[in-house]
Amino acid sequence: MAVLAKRSMALCLLFAIALDLCFFYTSAELERFDHPAKSDGSLSFLVVGDWGRRGAFNQSQVASQMGRIGEKLDIDFVVSTGDNFYDNGLTSEQDTNFEESFTKIYTAKSLQKQWGNAEAQLSPLLRKIDSRWLCLRSFIVNSELVDILFVDTTPFVKAYFTKTEGHTYDWRGIHPRKEYIANLLKDVESSLKESTAKWKIVVGHHAIRSIGHHGNTKELTKQLLPILQANNVNFYMNGHDHCLEHISDADSPIQFLTSGAGSKAWKGDFKDANSEVVKFFYDGQGFMSVQLTKIDAKIAFYDVSGKILHIWRTMKQLHQSV
Ligand SMILES: *[C@@H]1O[C@H](CO)[C@@H](O)[C@H](O)[C@H]1NC(C)=O
Repeated sequence: MAVLAKRSMALCLLFAIALDLCFFYTSAELERFDHPAKSDGSLSFLVVGDWGRRGAFNQSQVASQMGRIGEKLDIDFVVSTGDNFYDNGLTSEQDTNFEESFTKIYTAKSLQKQWGNAEAQLSPLLRKIDSRWLCLRSFIVNSELVDILFVDTTPFVKAYFTKTEGHTYDWRGIHPRKEYIANLLKDVESSLKESTAKWKIVVGHHAIRSIGHHGNTKELTKQLLPILQANNVNFYMNGHDHCLEHISDADSPIQFLTSGAGSKAWKGDFKDANSEVVKFFYDGQGFMSVQLTKIDAKIAFYDVSGKILHIWRTMKQLHQSV
């Protein structure tokens, strides 16, 4: 992890310099960060999203339960599914929201690990304030056990470019959008094809399938999902909808897991909760844990008091080709 931290610091700096100099995505491979499994061959992590509200809306309660469960599961890192700082991201590197919503909230010992983020808060200065922060747009955390691809899904959503509704977006490095997306999809596809890991996980901010407020993201269903289905991806994880949910795919073994309940929730706005593919839906706050070994994967969802709401376990199919 020390190596990882040093490398990513250098990469962040390089990336920031690159952003200022060139305004297009060069189809280099996705940056890779090694994170080997534990000596017993297992690896575990927590997933939380949509959290940064300076502790309000139960953010602190969720954080403290993450600390407890993180300790119990001896987690290796934390995955954030994005929407990290409300209401409009960080205004600058000096924005105290970073410390007030992150550093001072996720204080438990077990959470002092690397945080990988599915949404870009790119400034290398943030890593200096808190070295847990891994700050690239799209990248891979990999080991023999699992490849986790973080995909920056924001540029896929067309409405962000047409109706901005008072939100501000940082599109540096994204234009021209079509080429950026095409290159990113190509990289995702080749990374998945080359992957020899036992488990393949893709993390984005926006849902491919969700019955929550925002629902499915049609651009992702159309462009990203076919690549995931064709390459034996086991899990797609996201935030965006402020709820916890587990939805299966009718056409492939992929499981859609939403963990976007790190603070404000209880919107009361969802549909089709009785649909056959919906294994679990919870409108309130909480988080998710993932435990992986060579032979099985265990997913659990927790509420604000740390109570387990839903557990799902799957065995590795031995005939599955990798
Ligand atoms: C905090 O969590 C409790 C328990 O789920 C819930 O009743 C309460 O409404 C939550 N508070 C907010 C502000 O969401």
